Amino acid sequence: MASVKTRHIEIDAHNHGQGIVISISDTGPGIPPNVIENIFDPFFTTKEVGLGLGLSISYRIMESLGGKIEVANIATGGARFELYLPNE
Ligand SMILES: Nc1ncnc2c1ncn2[C@@H]1O[C@H](COP(=O)(O)OP(=O)(O)OP(=O)(O)O)[C@@H](O)[C@H]1O
Ligand SMILES: [Mg+2]
Repeated sequence: MASVKTRHIEIDAHNHGQGIVISISDTGPGIPPNVIENIFDPFFTTKEVGLGLGLSISYRIMESLGGKIEVANIATGGARFELYLPNE
């Protein structure tokens, strides 16, 4: 089942503080290994009618907030995106 979860994290010693991670998992096909390096590139899409903008915009937004976005496939199927947000 698709899910959205949150958790608190300690950010590493170079960047004192705390943050939260928003973890979004789906039960789709997962991301093919040969494209996973490209999915955050502007206009990269594997869809017939996709713009390829959703993830590149998300990536920039997370950067502008001092955070990051990471992706991994789930062993049992689907993809998981994790949004790292530092507290102020
Ligand atoms: N949850 C997901 N599961 C599997 N592949 C994904 C997932 N999210 C993104 N992708 C892959 O990454 C590509 C880029 O995603 P992105 O959201 O940037 O663009 P898009 O969905 O193709 O178009 P749009 O601009 O309409 O969002 C997709 O075309 C798809 O190949
Ligand atoms: Mg999209």
